Amino acid sequence: MQNGKGRITEIIYGFDDSLLLRVDCPSALLPAPGQYLLADDGLADSVLAVPLFRAGTVPEVILQSSTPMPRHWLPGLELHLRGPLGHGFNLPAEVSHIALTSLGGGLARLLPLIGQNPLADIAIFTDAALPDLPVSVEVRRLADLPEALPWADFLALELTIEILPKLRTILGLAPHERPVCTAQALIISPMPCGALAECGVCAVPARKGYKLACKDGPVLDLKQLQW
Ligand code: FES
Repeated sequence: MQNGKGRITEIIYGFDDSLLLRVDCPSALLPAPGQYLLADDGLADSVLAVPLFRAGTVPEVILQSSTPMPRHWLPGLELHLRGPLGHGFNLPAEVSHIALTSLGGGLARLLPLIGQNPLADIAIFTDAALPDLPVSVEVRRLADLPEALPWADFLALELTIEILPKLRTILGLAPHERPVCTAQALIISPMPCGALAECGVCAVPARKGYKLACKDGPVLDLKQLQW
């Protein structure tokens, strides 16, 4: 983890109407897929630090906030950055069938996983808008996910804590049943302190107590969570 400075060079409207940032910053600060940076503009009356994640499929570094981005963040603004923070996705090299789905509204933060394992077949389950994708990526409706789950040997999700009680229904699982494959979830939550103050805002119910999304995650194995 390092502290440094970056500068917003471009604001991009994403395929899903979200705002994406192109930021010129030291490469040592850049997060891996699922990890994050905390960014603030250093203004005394400014908002809390904003978590920024890698987003999209392009090789250039594009970042997306998981909380509303301050309106005065425009190209040219200098940002104070801290990162990379937390644990990202741990994609085993041997997986061959990868399923991606976002239940938290931001599929862009899962797209950097495309290309991490070039030999794997990838299917995205969504009813939302998508950007141009490699032709090898299959796109299916979210409702197809329960039927396709046995096909996957790795499931990457993005979700908010509020989705956890409904997750079994969405995945077509019986009560207490868990996916057979490795399943990792990027938890979308405010992370104001980034584990510095242990504020607890990002606490996620776990099988034993709580996990802090900012420190133990934000990517957590579903086996660790209470759902
Ligand atoms: S953001 Fe404060 S403990 Fe996670």
